[in-house]
Amino acid sequence: MNLIDKWTADLRYLPYTQWSDTYQHFLLDTVQNSHWRLNYHIQPESGLLNDPNGFSYFDGKWQLFYQFYPMGPVHGVKSWAHVSSKNLVDWKTEGIALLPDSDYDQHGVYSGSGIVVDDELVLAYTGNVRDSKWERASYQMLARMDKEGKIMKEKKPIIPSPPEGYTHEFRDPQVFHHQETYWLLIGAQTDELEGKVLVYSGESLETLTFDGPLDFSDQSMGFMVECPNLVFIDDHPVFLFCAQGLDKTVMAYQNIYPNAYIVADALSHDGLSLINPSPLANLDAGFDVYATQAFNAPDGRALSVSWIGLPEVAYPSDSEGWAHCLSIIKELHLQDGHLYQKPIKEVVELRQDKTSFEGTLAQRPTTIAAQTDNCYELMLDLPANSQGKLHLYSDPQRDHSLTIDFDTKNGMITLDRSRVSHVFAQEYGTTRTLAIEKNRSLSLQIFVDRSVCEIFVNDGQAVLTARVFPTENENGLFLEGHSGHFSGNIWRLRKMMND
Ligand code: FRU
Repeated sequence: MNLIDKWTADLRYLPYTQWSDTYQHFLLDTVQNSHWRLNYHIQPESGLLNDPNGFSYFDGKWQLFYQFYPMGPVHGVKSWAHVSSKNLVDWKTEGIALLPDSDYDQHGVYSGSGIVVDDELVLAYTGNVRDSKWERASYQMLARMDKEGKIMKEKKPIIPSPPEGYTHEFRDPQVFHHQETYWLLIGAQTDELEGKVLVYSGESLETLTFDGPLDFSDQSMGFMVECPNLVFIDDHPVFLFCAQGLDKTVMAYQNIYPNAYIVADALSHDGLSLINPSPLANLDAGFDVYATQAFNAPDGRALSVSWIGLPEVAYPSDSEGWAHCLSIIKELHLQDGHLYQKPIKEVVELRQDKTSFEGTLAQRPTTIAAQTDNCYELMLDLPANSQGKLHLYSDPQRDHSLTIDFDTKNGMITLDRSRVSHVFAQEYGTTRTLAIEKNRSLSLQIFVDRSVCEIFVNDGQAVLTARVFPTENENGLFLEGHSGHFSGNIWRLRKMMND
């Protein structure tokens, strides 16, 4: 038996029940044998994962859902898969929560959000339907989960069609409660093919009415805005979104589509504008972050989780029957108007044995660890006024590795994945460069998990995320450079528990 190599539209939209057991077993086996499988990141059991959905806290547990197509590493007919957690690091697999099985969502249960109302977790999602001419219709739907975990879909859409002047590229509702009102933000496109975000509000989720487009920038937002998401941090609205086709003069980026954010002073009373919005900024300075979802948790934190993957880009794990994962959970802060993203404090629960190291940066590379199992957390402090290179995922000769070039004198770091064994997405560039403060020491906190790497710079001032697909012997850690003293710690991290 072979994996499918020609994914026609007919195959991608075939109902799950029509796939043979033999194929599904073969696929699961193939995925289980992949040496790129992850230890502590949420990943699909088989097939493709994309956006995080419905991130919330309900029934004494963290609840998280994601876009899921189980039959192969392609964007087929989507469901919501469900995981839950007591500690934000061990995620229990709960199975498929929302199947594409109604007249309003038969070609995909698309992205959305979750909000606790009374005793239920209400899930708002987009039902995607194609007609015989393959024209899209988008319906905004609700489902309710009770404390037994039973989920019931509402029969009729709460928003049956986009308003006048907008196309059916209309999806990803975010619902939230603010100033005694329920709000719904949604990604949209005008008939002139401009990306917009639309605002609905009402006394309940069942009685929302259309208010108008959200005013959050004077610039054009490209042809479509996906996954709009507003959170409040220290009373400031922080708006996350994905502007497809955004002009690079509005914000510099290299990925196919950017995940951007804006920090504002306030949300106007009518909910239609962000007051004094900052210019757009790139949420992740690396290669693979999209569709980040954040929410204001009941414990006061603003928590976020990202899809580590991008639309329309092929990844090496496709050949092993699966694609993509979610990021670790991050906590958002504002400091001097700048957004900080830090790993949540709970990640320390993954730590196992610790090794400390220190030395002087030298041209002859220092071995931090000759061989790892590519599953660790590394904290590294580098001196001001120095230059050098950190090799992750390195073979012993350092011919193949993911490198971080740092220059703390001139204030620059470059993440370079051009020399790892399985190079991919080269058309979007193989390096990402980030400006950092000059003449200042640099601290890196790096999470490596088999084929994913998340790099937090200077306590969360910036994050660079990358998928990396090493071969078996690409697992060393080396540091080279000149001038100054470095020190750090490395912890082996355990697997997440998923039952
Ligand atoms: C973003 C997105 C959403 C959509 C979902 C479908 O990655 O395109 O706009 O709801 O993925 O899986």
